[in-house]
Amino acid sequence: MITDALDAKGLVLEEVHRRFAQVLEDPLMHGVAGEVVECLAARDGENAPRGHLNLPFEGADGGAATPVKKIGALTFRSALVPILSDPAQLPSIPILYLRLSKLTQDPSSTAAQVAEVLGTDPASVTRLLRLVNSPFYGLRNPVSSVAGAVRLLGFDAVNSLVLATSMDGLFKSTSPTASARMEQLWYHSIGCAVAAKIIASLAGFGDVEQYFVAGLLHDLGKLVVLRSCPDAFEQSARLAVSDETQFADAENVVCGTNHALIGALLGNRWSLPPSLVAGLSQHHHPGQAKAHPEVAAVVHLADIVSLGLGIGSSGNPFVPPIDNAASKLLNLDADRLKAIIDTTESEYPAVESAILGTNKG
Ligand SMILES: [Fe+2]
Ligand SMILES: [Fe+2]
Repeated sequence: MITDALDAKGLVLEEVHRRFAQVLEDPLMHGVAGEVVECLAARDGENAPRGHLNLPFEGADGGAATPVKKIGALTFRSALVPILSDPAQLPSIPILYLRLSKLTQDPSSTAAQVAEVLGTDPASVTRLLRLVNSPFYGLRNPVSSVAGAVRLLGFDAVNSLVLATSMDGLFKSTSPTASARMEQLWYHSIGCAVAAKIIASLAGFGDVEQYFVAGLLHDLGKLVVLRSCPDAFEQSARLAVSDETQFADAENVVCGTNHALIGALLGNRWSLPPSLVAGLSQHHHPGQAKAHPEVAAVVHLADIVSLGLGIGSSGNPFVPPIDNAASKLLNLDADRLKAIIDTTESEYPAVESAILGTNKG
């Protein structure tokens, strides 16, 4: 019997490697094989996890659950793999950020050149100046030009802010359900960005704009899933509720992978700085971050703060506990946590207003 089981597992592993060979070549995806094997091995077992294959599926009217629709890890994974393997199907990095990154990497670049590149996208300039002049930055004198913002904040900060203010196009979909999810995710991400900058400032870390962007990007992998396979997102959200588990754990069951891994994969394709990739890949397990643990820790806590304050929705029905390693790294105590929560709550509306051009701030 044991031999039979081992044989079956061997066959399953073979099948996983056959079907996902391309993705598994990527070092970031190595860990996925084990999870997929577990999912597959469990599907015929008597103790298959609830929701693994037989998730209740809501009717199109959103009413009572209709008979079970059989969807498993392989189904979603086989839908996701071609998308992850084909750069043309992935969201593309905002072109303005790309052009600006090249410029800001050249030490001989000038503020005027940055302003010239930004001048090609007046809407981004408007958002950038609105953000820099919002109460979140607390500037004594308002900045009226890109060159002025560069002089005041530096190239790197402006580059980060350009990414922040040119990302809204990514959070759009033609599917109304996915679009509503993306809108909530965008709010959640802005909340996380605000909290991340506050946490980094209180911890005394430098280049706080980097943390702002890391917070804004942290759930990028969810965008990929929502754009390419929105059913997988909905199933994961439902499983997280019914099993009282974290969204990323539900994703592992439903998709055989999770948004942190997918986001890191995309971040690498975009050639984002390693610190931002660390925020993408390790924000749920900051203690495991080998590189840039401070970014992983800040984004981890910021995600929790944004969730706890109920800013938008990330699909995660529960606020996770704060990781011990992150808590230690950030010298977190009750007073500091309260300060972070209170400041995020009061600063968020102005930033949302600046980025989205609404009038809440
Ligand atoms: Fe996440
Ligand atoms: Fe999140």
